[in-house]
Amino acid sequence: MSEAKTILKTSIDLKKIRADFPILSRKVNGKSLVYFDNGATAQKPQQVIDAIDRYYKEQNANIHRGVHTLSQEITIAYENSRSTIQKHLNAAYSHEIIFTSGTTESINLVATSFGKKFISQGDEIIISEMEHHSNILPWQVVCEEKGAILKVIPINDSGELLMDEYKKLLSDRTKIVAVTHISNTLGTINPVKEIIELAHAKNIPVLIDGAQAVPHTSVDVQALDCDFYVFSGHKLFGPTGVGILYGKEKWLNELPPYQVGGGTIKTVTFEKTEYADLPLKFEAGTPHIEGGIGLAVAIDYINEIGLSKIAAYEHELLLYATEALQKIEGLRIIGTAKNKASVISFVVDGLHPFDIGTILDQLGIAVRTGHHCTQPLMQCYEIQGTVRASFAFYNTIEEIDEFIIGLNRAIKMLK
Ligand SMILES: Cc1ncc(COP(=O)(O)O)c(C=O)c1O
Repeated sequence: MSEAKTILKTSIDLKKIRADFPILSRKVNGKSLVYFDNGATAQKPQQVIDAIDRYYKEQNANIHRGVHTLSQEITIAYENSRSTIQKHLNAAYSHEIIFTSGTTESINLVATSFGKKFISQGDEIIISEMEHHSNILPWQVVCEEKGAILKVIPINDSGELLMDEYKKLLSDRTKIVAVTHISNTLGTINPVKEIIELAHAKNIPVLIDGAQAVPHTSVDVQALDCDFYVFSGHKLFGPTGVGILYGKEKWLNELPPYQVGGGTIKTVTFEKTEYADLPLKFEAGTPHIEGGIGLAVAIDYINEIGLSKIAAYEHELLLYATEALQKIEGLRIIGTAKNKASVISFVVDGLHPFDIGTILDQLGIAVRTGHHCTQPLMQCYEIQGTVRASFAFYNTIEEIDEFIIGLNRAIKMLK
């Protein structure tokens, strides 16, 4: 028996958990769905679906603006959700939690507002070679607008950041560092605490893209001492269209508003506007109310299971799948870092990832194929794309067995 299989002792109640996710019992192409595209978006438990349903059936009203009962009730519920998220991240204050539409908007917000105030000609911004396009493009735009320079931390063949190169890039010209906590393509878990410490030693703030980290690991923003931490609700078993920007109070107070309009103000005259205090200063317009509420329900849900149990179980899935994939001839895993989350990208000699993905889909198995919004990383490995299987805590060893059988079948058909 394999090493992974012998040590697999799941301490989570898989049967109960799977029953919470209605979509897991649906058929795709006549087969039971095997959902291994959790890195793109995660499925939602009934508890989150019920919260959204309840909002529209019983609670629908706008927040922060009404004296009537519905508006007051939903304002309290929305602000309670902010507090749930604050506690989950161990942020010092709930006004350090800004609701956005997702990771992408959170990064655009910081890049735009920070860039406007703090970036000038010749300044430098550090990102890494494994960033998602959402953590490249907003910085590229700032660089173009301000005449600043984008510096990129390189990686080794395993997909780990070259920390010595990072140290060399940090300079008096560096204005901000923005790196991913966990790579969506490679699964690499980056040493973010060390990255932050090194930057702070030179008084440089750090933004961490936590889109792929929050579903797999607990995050303590005060222990990390990050200046900004961003993520999306939909990858964390919550609704789409909602995300979070955590920012240290000091920075959020200093940054100018990103978008302006209703909700962001104290007073407005045609001559002058005085902006609201945090967090409203960054929350223009009617937000995704049921999204914020649903996200807090999702967080309560994963905390009920326990993130340390989730991480341990997913690590077993990762080991088991990695071992099985390594036995397939001509298959190369892209991303073999020592410290990895449950994301496996791979290529198969002579085969196109799309073709593999299409055959797997016929078998009811959902994986992602392509560049995963990390084209510069693909260029680094000199490949067009990969097949990516990304696991969540509701996935099972039996599903991995089915995936391996399906993959072998696909390879045989395509070769
Ligand atoms: C590491 C990382 N950053 C950013 C994003 C963008 O997230 P969203 O599309 O939810 O804004 C993703 C999505 O895949 C991601 O994996």
